[in-house]
Amino acid sequence: MAGYIDRIGAGKVLLDKGPLSYDWIPPALIGRDDELADMAAIFSQMENQYTSCQAVILGPVGSGKTVLTQRFGDDIRQHLEGRRHIIFAHVNCRNHPTGSQVLQQIALALDPGHPERGFSSGEIIQSIRRNLSTHNAHLLLILDEVDVLILRDSSDLIYKLLRIDEGQEWSGSLSLILVSQNQTLLKLFEPAIISRLGQSNVIELAAYDEVTLTGIARQRADVACRTGSVGDETLAKIGRFSGESGDARHAIELLDAAIRRAEKAGRGDVLPEDVRVSTLRQAAFEPSQIDVLSKHQKLVLLGICRRLKKADHISSGDAQKLYNLVCEEFGFKPRSYTTFWKHLKALEVEGLIDTRTTKANVGRGRTRHITMTNTLPASLESRIEREMLRG
Ligand SMILES: Nc1ncnc2c1ncn2[C@@H]1O[C@H](COP(=O)(O)OP(=O)(O)OP(=O)(O)O)[C@@H](O)[C@H]1O
Ligand SMILES: [Mg+2]
Repeated sequence: MAGYIDRIGAGKVLLDKGPLSYDWIPPALIGRDDELADMAAIFSQMENQYTSCQAVILGPVGSGKTVLTQRFGDDIRQHLEGRRHIIFAHVNCRNHPTGSQVLQQIALALDPGHPERGFSSGEIIQSIRRNLSTHNAHLLLILDEVDVLILRDSSDLIYKLLRIDEGQEWSGSLSLILVSQNQTLLKLFEPAIISRLGQSNVIELAAYDEVTLTGIARQRADVACRTGSVGDETLAKIGRFSGESGDARHAIELLDAAIRRAEKAGRGDVLPEDVRVSTLRQAAFEPSQIDVLSKHQKLVLLGICRRLKKADHISSGDAQKLYNLVCEEFGFKPRSYTTFWKHLKALEVEGLIDTRTTKANVGRGRTRHITMTNTLPASLESRIEREMLRG
């Protein structure tokens, strides 16, 4: 009876679950060297006691905005150790969507005993400034998902924070990093704020490509799992599947689910077949996409689906062999090589398969690898089979 329970946490694959959490901060970011260098350039004067810097980070969901600010915050604090005392505060405005809630979070970062109520915004700002000057400290403040604050409340708080040192003897209290998914964030601000933020301080993160997502999955697998338990092909499949969204969370989620499947099966290695489109994210195919296909296009697709249920990719040569077998099974005469190729192209145009030329491009130079990303081979297979059996 306890057999199934023994498999849970047996650690055949997983050594440490921590790195599979979204909150785990990687020691280094994958594929964000340029953006980190841009940040370093914007904050290059930070060593100077009287300097404040501002940056705006924009990018789509899961493009690493939050982790970039965390990584950078940690790195710069260490870099300036002994030269400037930096206090790092990260406030997510989705969780604290009003100006006074944000201020309260900042006050708490500086003084965990800060009383909850009874102060006006102006008073809290003054106490923040006092606290910083007493400790000779500089606050590096991240306002994450800042568009929520602006839309819910206003940009008033940001304006006040940018002017925190105005009319004071002391300057350089606070540096600000604004983070948002909203590409048009700056349009939400008045010119006075934009001029203070500086247009040149905007860093735009692009959605991740397949290769980077494979790297992000690999980085986590390397620290979370037994050496060699997650192979290259498995990681490449994770990269490809998540490449559709470009969202790093998607890659981590696919890795996590694949590890679970392998462990549940009592295996010590995570195979490509353990990587599956999650039902939550599945970009389902439209029935009409299948309906427009000719009979032989469907047969070609059926052969491909049968293999891709179990494997990550299939060569065009194997796809043709499987097509011939499928034709035999349903009593049709296979079409010529050239027609087979035309069908393959048509399936690609329909967005049902992806093909790519591999390095081992010998002979006729037409060896291609076929993969599927946004469709589930198993459900396509049963759909086409049912149709063929109905005749
Ligand atoms: N370049 C990277 N290297 C390693 N891990 C990354 C990288 N980018 C993102 N991640 C990881 O992917 C997950 C999502 O990243 P993050 O939370 O920073 O995205 P985001 O852009 O802030 O998303 P959202 O718009 O939803 O707030 C996190 O667990 C993060 O550690
Ligand atoms: Mg974020």
